Amino acid sequence: MYALDLYVVTATEIMHYLPQGHRAETRASADLRPKLKSLALGQASVGAAPALLVVAYDPSRLAARYGARANPYASYEVGHAAQNMLLQATALGLVAVPVAAVDGAPAAQALGLPAGQTVIYLIPVGFPA
Ligand SMILES: Cc1cc2nc3c(=O)[nH]c(=O)nc-3n(C[C@H](O)[C@H](O)[C@H](O)COP(=O)(O)O)c2cc1C
Repeated sequence: MYALDLYVVTATEIMHYLPQGHRAETRASADLRPKLKSLALGQASVGAAPALLVVAYDPSRLAARYGARANPYASYEVGHAAQNMLLQATALGLVAVPVAAVDGAPAAQALGLPAGQTVIYLIPVGFPA
């Protein structure tokens, strides 16, 4: 059981990453980057990224197994996953930055995420200048 879900926001759609099969399913057809930018202190990278990775988590998924440790463990999991996304972007010759200054609950609502999920990181990915 994982605490996190990964979504990809582009100029045309919102996709949900499915680890099983390494696939992504389209959840909606819209450009949510301007809205997410407004929920992230207006940070330009969020509005401009060709691919905006959205890391959402629901620590309660770990509660049955880890009890009071669910919240910190979920955060560790997000950190590990984000680190790997940043490394992979670099390996592909791309640039990326972890953005934590985002209003998580309104962002989750704007994206239409399932109840319980909160956006914890935005990771804009783009090409080097
Ligand atoms: C928890 C956390 C939150 C961050 N939030 C933001 C952010 O909101 N916006 C941003 O541009 N960078 C953000 N960063 C990235 C840092 O500003 C910085 O670019 C990154 O840690 C790499 O540091 P360095 O360039 O000094 O090596 C965040 C980094 C961390 C670890």
